[in-house]
This record gives sequence, structure tokens and C-alpha cells, in this order.
Amino acid sequence: MQKMTVAQARQPQSAGEHVRLQGWIRTRRDSKGGFSFLELSDGSSVGNIQIVAEAALPNYESEIKHLSAGCSVTVEGELKASPAKGQATEVHAKAIAVHGWADPETYALQKKRHSFEFLRTLAHLRPRTNTFGAIARVRNCICRSIHNFFQEEGFLYVHAPIITASDCEGAGEMFKVTTLDLANVPKTSSTVDFTQDFFDRPAFLTVSGQLEAEIFACALGKVYTFGPTFRAENSNTSRHLAEFWMVEPEMAFFELADNMDLAERFLKRIFRDVLAQCPDDMQFFNAQIEPTVLSTLEGIIGSDFVRLSYTEAVEILAGSGAKFEFPVAWGHDLQAEHERYLTEQHFSRPVILCDYPRSIKPFYMRVNDDGRTVRAMDILVPRVGEIIGGSQREERLDVMAERMREQKLAPEAYWWYLDLRRYGTVPHSGFGLGLERAVQFVTGMANIRDVIPFPRVPGSADF
Ligand code: 4AD
Ligand code: MG
Repeated sequence: MQKMTVAQARQPQSAGEHVRLQGWIRTRRDSKGGFSFLELSDGSSVGNIQIVAEAALPNYESEIKHLSAGCSVTVEGELKASPAKGQATEVHAKAIAVHGWADPETYALQKKRHSFEFLRTLAHLRPRTNTFGAIARVRNCICRSIHNFFQEEGFLYVHAPIITASDCEGAGEMFKVTTLDLANVPKTSSTVDFTQDFFDRPAFLTVSGQLEAEIFACALGKVYTFGPTFRAENSNTSRHLAEFWMVEPEMAFFELADNMDLAERFLKRIFRDVLAQCPDDMQFFNAQIEPTVLSTLEGIIGSDFVRLSYTEAVEILAGSGAKFEFPVAWGHDLQAEHERYLTEQHFSRPVILCDYPRSIKPFYMRVNDDGRTVRAMDILVPRVGEIIGGSQREERLDVMAERMREQKLAPEAYWWYLDLRRYGTVPHSGFGLGLERAVQFVTGMANIRDVIPFPRVPGSADF
């Protein structure tokens, strides 16, 4: 008797084995001939395995004939080649033990299909559905691929803090971390007295591990962080979360073009790994969720990303004749509709946009010789828009100080960051990939809330 996963048992070469399988019933169908077919799932693959349970089993009438979706069981039996189409094997049960019942009157996952909105209210049950099982496996594959890529390239994995005093993006979209009694906040005349707070100053959840990654890159060369990040922006869109995971490589002696090359290779590696390691899940997404995911990923792996300056992009958009909700003008940030026009309609490929106006990008980006633009790069992909944001960092102390004044940041608060420019400064670059945007793009899922196990968005943090 061999304990197996459903994924292993579904392999044609497993036929003939005596196996023990454990999981949850998806469906039961009783045949007139006095036996039942059970579909068993254990999360190891998107496909289930069929169990044939004969009436001669001792608990056939008392238990097996009452099994329904969600019941948990151990099945022992013989794996045989299946005559049914769509499955190589099936199990002829010798024994079925029931661990837990799931009352069909109240168990929510009875129907074959539920809307994703409905399933969002059942974050504790949705991993049991085909779609969310497949997402969990693909998300895991992407994370493994991220680590493999950077480890093979000689990067060190460093851990940035989650609680921080600095606002990396300077956008003021931070969650405060405090132990002060909110009903009785200590004050100094007009403002809150943070010297009485836990950290002796205002503290926040990090929006990015970049600044800390720069510290390590400027000592160790090539590093990456990969962890949760938080944004208190009140955007209720299908592409924004208040808590999301970001992977941020940071490299000393990398200029913007090196940064772009790395990011392009990195994304292609992730897509290749998912296609190779999750073929069944990807077939599922292509068939059930978005019929272009496979062809899009295959196309991207085999072609070069477009590289284009912000200024050229504005010219293309302004001359496109397309109707946009937000007008296009040099100096304004591009909106999702503009980004998607470029990557979906105009180029039908991923686009790396660079050299954005200095006024719309954070203080840490390197100012170009034209004085008007900075060495930023955003990578745009069809359906999702911006998937990566990055830049070459400003390594000149005087220019950095000027940029901080320009953006009304207090240099005292960033003394340690300025020290990196004061002592042994080097050109360096990095970028951030939003993990959920990557999962969204790969799977074709329309809403980012469905590609993270427990989504946090304005007004909702139930589980
Ligand atoms: O473009 P962003 O804000 O860049 C940074 O945070 C830099 N410090 C990264 C760096 O250079 N090390 O964010 C990077 C990426 C975006 O391109 C997007 O994929 C994702 O993070 N992202 C979000 N994903 C989900 N929900 C949100 N609210 C997101 N905000 C950014
Ligand atoms: Mg960005």
C-alpha cells in the first residue's frame, strides 16, 4: 500500500499500484448497477481522481451513499487504467473511511461554479475550489522561480523591515503603527507627542524595502528583498491591494540599461518556469479564465520587450486618435488606460517606459543630463498595465539633496541614506515587481483580490 497524492495517482504509469489517497469529495454519482463514482481532490492538481465504490463495501449503504461535496475521506484501493475519457486512471476502492461530514444543507460549495465576488466572502473555503487551488499552485511556482532566478544569479536575499520610519515612495500612503491609546492621545500643545509612543517617533508599515536594499547593495553588490508591503491609498481598483508582496532586487554598478536587461530576463524566466512546471493549471486558466494567457506568455518569451521613453510614449498617445478619459500631456503621470493602450493596442507586447518627468517621480531617481527627466523605468504588460517599477538611483549627494528639498523631505530624517552617497557612492539601480500583478498577469484573473490568499482592501480585512 502506497500513500499517493491525486496528482501522482493520475499518472498513467501508476496503474496497477495499491494506493492510499486522502482528500475531499467533490461529487458523488450513483450508478444503477449498485455502485458509486466519487470525485476526490486533495489540492495536488487541478484534476480530480475518480473512485469506484462498489455496494459490497461494508459501509456502502451507511456512509458512502451519503457522501457529498466537502466530506473528507481516506480511500484505499487499486489504481487501474480508466476506460472513461479525460482521465488515465481510476481507483477501485477496497475501503473508504470517512473523517468528516459536510452537511449539504449548509455547506456553501455545492454548486460547480460560484462567482468570484461570492467566493471573496468565503476566504476560508475558496482554496477548495479548482480556480483557487490552481492560483495557489501557480503563485507558489512564481515565488520559487523568483528565488531560483536571483540565487542562480548570485544575489543575496536580505530582509527589509516591515516597520519603518521613512516613506520610500514619498507619496504619504502609509499605515501608522502605534501603541498610543487612541481615545487619549498624548499631545504637545497642538500635535501628537510621539515621544510617548512605542518607537519614540511616528512609525509606519513599509511601502517598499528599497531604501534598506540600497544599504546592502552598497556593501554586498547584488541583493534582493521579497516581502509584504503596504499602501494606504484609497484606490478600489482591480489592480490595487492595501497589502501586497513585492520582490525588489538592488544592484551596485548597474545603470538603467542593465536594470532593464535584468528585469526582462527575470520576467521571461518566471513565465517559462510557470509554463514548464504548471502545465495543467495553465491549461485550466486558458480554458476557463482567459483564452489568451498561454499564447501571450509564449509570445513574450520569444520576443524582445519594446523600450521607449516617456516623451515618445506621450507623442504616440497624443497622436493615436484614441479617446481617453484622462487627457495626455507631457508632465502628467500616465493613467492605466494610457499604459494599456501602449502595451495592448499599439505594440501588443510588454513595453519598458523610461525617462519620466522628474516632477512625477520619487526623490531617489537619478536625474538625467537634460535636467527635466529621471532614469525611471516602468514595465507595462497587456491586461495588467504596470507590473514593474524601478530606476537608476541618484548617487550624487548634491543632486539628491536638491531633489529632497524639491519634494519637501527633511534631509535629517534620511541622514543614513545620504551617507551612502557621502561615503563610497556608486551608480546603482533596482526595481520592484508586484507579486500579485505577476500572478494576475500569468493566470488571467481579472481581479487582484483573487490572486492573494487573504486580500486587504479599503473597508475589508475580514479573515
Ligand atoms: O512602482 P512602485 O511604487 O515602486 C516602488 O515601490 C519602488 N520602491 C520599487 C523599487 O524600485 N525597488 O511599486 C512597484 C510595483 C508596481 O509596479 C506594482 O507591480 C506593485 O509594485 N504595486 C502594487 N501591487 C498591488 N497593489 C498596490 N497597491 C501596488 N502598488 C504597487
Ligand atoms: Mg510605480
